[in-house]
Amino acid sequence: MLDQIALRAELADHYDLSPSIDIAEANAGLYARMERVVSPPDWTIHAPYVAAINRLKKERNAVILAHNYMTPEIYHGIADVVGDSLQLAIEATKVEAEVIVQCGVHFMAETAKILNPAKTVLIPDMEAGCSLAESITPEGIAQMRARYPGAPVVTYVNTSAEVKAASDICCTSSNAAQIVAAQESDTVIMTPDKYLAQNVARQVPHKRIVWWDGACIVHERFTAQDLREFRDWNPGTRIIVHPECPPEVVAEADYTGSTSGIIAYVDRERPEKAMLVTECSMASNISDALPEVEFVGPCNMCPFMKKITLEKVLWSLHSMQGAVEVDPAIAAPARVAVERMIALSQRSA
Ligand code: 13P
Ligand code: SF4
Repeated sequence: MLDQIALRAELADHYDLSPSIDIAEANAGLYARMERVVSPPDWTIHAPYVAAINRLKKERNAVILAHNYMTPEIYHGIADVVGDSLQLAIEATKVEAEVIVQCGVHFMAETAKILNPAKTVLIPDMEAGCSLAESITPEGIAQMRARYPGAPVVTYVNTSAEVKAASDICCTSSNAAQIVAAQESDTVIMTPDKYLAQNVARQVPHKRIVWWDGACIVHERFTAQDLREFRDWNPGTRIIVHPECPPEVVAEADYTGSTSGIIAYVDRERPEKAMLVTECSMASNISDALPEVEFVGPCNMCPFMKKITLEKVLWSLHSMQGAVEVDPAIAAPARVAVERMIALSQRSA
C-alpha cells in the first residue's frame, strides 16, 4: 500500500474530494441516518468520499460488507451489508458481485475469501489485525491437542486461516455456547479467547472447557468494579455486555450477546439509558434509529477496526490493491471448519 501522502496525492489526481455542501445536500438521505452523531461540517468532509465510493462500487461491480464496529460514515454511508462476524460470514457466501470490500479486520476478509474463493476480496488496510488472531498459531492448536488428546478444537473466527485449518469447527460470539454444547466429547478445547471460553463454560456447565490464553484488547479493559460504580451513579442504566469481556464483567450484565445480538436487544427493549460494554462505534451506529435511548459510558475503540477509513476504502476500490489471498491447501480445511459452524448454527436457528 502507498503511504498516506502518496495515496492522498493519487486520489486527488482522480477525484474532487474537497469538502462540499452541494454533495452533502445531494446525499442528505444517507446523512439522515447519522445526523445525531456526525456534525454537518463533518458530513461536508465525508460526503465527497461517500459519493465517490458509491459510484466506484457500481463501476467495479463491488459490494461492501461492514462490521458493526465501523464508524457511522462507513456503516451508514457506503455499506451494502452490515452485521456481526457470523452474519458477515454468511453474507460472504451469497455475494454475486465480482468484488467484496471488507470493512472490518483481516480475519473477516480472509473468511470471506475462504467461503467465496472466486471473488476478489479487498481489505482497505492489510494491517487491520486483531489481538485475538495474533495470539495463536497452528502450533498452539497442536499443543492443545497434545495436552487434551481426543478433545475437539472449537476456534473463534477471530483467527488466521491457518489456525482455522488446524481446528475442528469455528464459532462466533453469537453461537459459541451452541457449538460447544453440540460436541460429543466431555472435554472441549476453545481457542483463542479465554474470556469467551470462560463465559461459555458457565452456559454449558456439563462440559469441561479448556482454553488458550488469548484476549481482546478492547473488551479486557472493562472491569466489574467500573460497571458497579457506574450503575450506582446512574441507576436504571441497562448494562449490555459483549462475551469477549471477562466473566466477572459479564456477571454484571442485563444482557450478553454478539454485536448484532446487542443491537437487537436495545431495539427490542428501548431502555431509557444503555451502556454498551463493547467497541465505541456500536452506540454511534444505532443512535439515530433509537433517539429515545441515551447511550452512556466509556468509549473504548478498537485500533484495528479504526484503521479502516473512507479514504482507504476509496483507495482500495480505485487501485484494486489489497486483495486477500489464501493458499488453497489452507483454505480447504479452513472452509470445512467455518462451514461446519454455519451449518450447525442454521440447523438450530
Ligand atoms: P461479533 O460481531 O461477532 O460479536 O464480534 C465482535 C468482534 O470483536 C469482532 O472482532
Ligand atoms: Fe479483535 Fe477485539 Fe478488535 Fe474485535 S474488538 S477486532 S476482537 S481486537
